[in-house]
Amino acid sequence: MNFFKSALFFKIIVIPFFLVLAMGIGMLLYINNFSMNLVEKNVQQFTKDILYTYKVFSYASIAKGQRHAFQEVVDSFNNIQGVKDVYAFNRNKLMLYKMNEKSVGLLFTKTKDGKYVNSNVKFYNQSNGLFLRDDWFYKDLNESKAKDMMFNREHPKGADCTKCHLALPKEADFSNGIFIKEEGKYVEAYSEISVETKCIKCHTHWKEHEPAGYLGVKIDRTFEETNSLKVTNKFILFMIMTTVALFSSNLSTLYKLYENQKYVFR
Ligand code: HEC
Ligand code: HEC
Repeated sequence: MNFFKSALFFKIIVIPFFLVLAMGIGMLLYINNFSMNLVEKNVQQFTKDILYTYKVFSYASIAKGQRHAFQEVVDSFNNIQGVKDVYAFNRNKLMLYKMNEKSVGLLFTKTKDGKYVNSNVKFYNQSNGLFLRDDWFYKDLNESKAKDMMFNREHPKGADCTKCHLALPKEADFSNGIFIKEEGKYVEAYSEISVETKCIKCHTHWKEHEPAGYLGVKIDRTFEETNSLKVTNKFILFMIMTTVALFSSNLSTLYKLYENQKYVFR
């Protein structure tokens, strides 16, 4: 009479083992799905919170036209875990400010191999950060002399600016107030800044309620996934350990019973 072939071993150990295994796999799939949904929700919320914070903290410097104070707000997001980049765009949707990049309100240019160069740097360095195009208060950059000057040199007439300069995603749509774009491990969120009466004092050619420009943030979702994975892993470890403890305790009890009262197992 072999313990491992006995009916009781089969009923008390083998069958429950497979039941627990099936249940365990089911639960794991469920938890995994649940935590992925949670990660997604948290990342979306985090992205919106960062954008909102950016809007609130940059408002004062924008409303006073303080470019350096504004750049400091942009750069301060560098210290927040999960924030990959922070941007600002003009009303023509071209990027003028970017986290940890010098800017005097000119553009960032894409090179042919897909990299970008910060075209602001030479103007920034020449002027100690003070360069200001002289028609800024009555012309947007697209109509500015700064552009014409460059057009003479390298700009094909009527070309799409976004081909060579960094810009808002083309499909950006602000009918819901905020535009969210997901791409691989990144989530981006953008929103509009609108013109108020007090802006017109300086930006004399703008009209109230028109878009003045756009703000954007880019979040790396992996930090949230890693956090949630840690929790899931702890839970899985706990489940495996409990199951092992339970089955080894049952097995040993059953084996003692088998040693003492072999007739039960017949
Ligand atoms: C005291 C003057 C002043 C006031 C008031 C002001 N700005 Fe500006 N703003 C500036 C200056 C100077 C620049 C830099 C121009 C440049 O780089 O070409 C600028 C640039 C900007 C830019 C960058 C894009 C661009 O078109 O150059 C945006 C967006 C902007 N301002 C929005 C606003 C909004 C919105 C308000 C009102 C809430 C506002 N500004 C009020 C002076 C001002
Ligand atoms: C074919 C590519 C190309 C296109 C299209 C293009 N640009 Fe440029 N742009 C450049 C290059 C290259 C420079 C020079 C960058 C440098 O010197 O760092 C430049 C520089 C500029 C500058 C000079 C100041 C700065 O930001 O460095 C302005 C302003 C500018 N472009 C505006 C525009 C506008 C507005 C459009 C759309 C109407 C446009 N560009 C379309 C390639 C392009």
